[in-house]
Amino acid sequence: MKKLKLGILISGRGSNLQALINACSENNYPAEIVLVISNKPDAQGLKHAIEANIETQVIEHNNYSDRESFDKDLNETLYASGVELICLAGFMRLLSGWFIEKWPNKIINIHPSLLPAFKGTNSHAEVINSGVKISGCTVHFVTKDMDAGPIIMQAAVPVLPNDNKDSLAKRILKSEHKCYSHAIRLIASNKIKIKNQLVIDISGNKIDEITFNPSLE
Ligand code: GRF
Repeated sequence: MKKLKLGILISGRGSNLQALINACSENNYPAEIVLVISNKPDAQGLKHAIEANIETQVIEHNNYSDRESFDKDLNETLYASGVELICLAGFMRLLSGWFIEKWPNKIINIHPSLLPAFKGTNSHAEVINSGVKISGCTVHFVTKDMDAGPIIMQAAVPVLPNDNKDSLAKRILKSEHKCYSHAIRLIASNKIKIKNQLVIDISGNKIDEITFNPSLE
C-alpha cells in the first residue's frame, strides 16, 4: 500500500504526535510519519519521535530575524523529506501566507474547541467562563485566517459542572487523539475533497464518518 507521507510540526508535549505514531504503526493505516519538526529544542514530543525511530529536526524560530525566513527553511526541509501532508500538532507558530500558499489544502491542524467557537490559545478557559455545556475538538485545513479553514471532523465533549480548564482540556485531549488519526485516514484514503470551503465526500455525498462522538464510545 502506498502511504501518504506526513510531516508533523510540534512545539511541546506531543501527545497528539504520539497518538499519530500509534495509528501509523497499524499495518493497514494509509499514512506514515516521515519527519517531525519542532521549533523548540526542548519540546517533549521530540522524544516520542526519536523513540519511534522517526527523523526529527529542530528549526528554532529564535534564530531567524523574520517569519518568512523561518518559513522558507521550514518549507525546504519538508520538501526535502518528501512530505505530502503537514499536520500541526500543538505547533505554536503562525505560518505566513507565503507558506500556506505553497501547501494548498496540504496543511491540517487540530484545535481543542468546536470551531468556529473559541478560536485561539485560551479556548478551555473561555469555554468554562462562557458557561457552554458542550465543547470538543476540530480537525481542519489551515488557511490564512487562524483556526478558520474547512472543517474535516469534530468531536463533541461535555463540559461538566465542576470542570476547570485543566480537567476539560484532559477530557477533550482524549477525543483529539482519536479524531486526528481518523481525519488523516479520510484524507490519505482519498475519501474527502473541498468544495465551496466545505469538506465533502469525494463523490459529493455527505459522509457519516465526518462527525462522530468518540467521548461516548
Ligand atoms: C492540543 O490540545 C491541540 O489541540 C492544541 O495544542 C495541544 C497540543 O497538545 N493545538 P499535544 O502537544 O499534542 O499534547
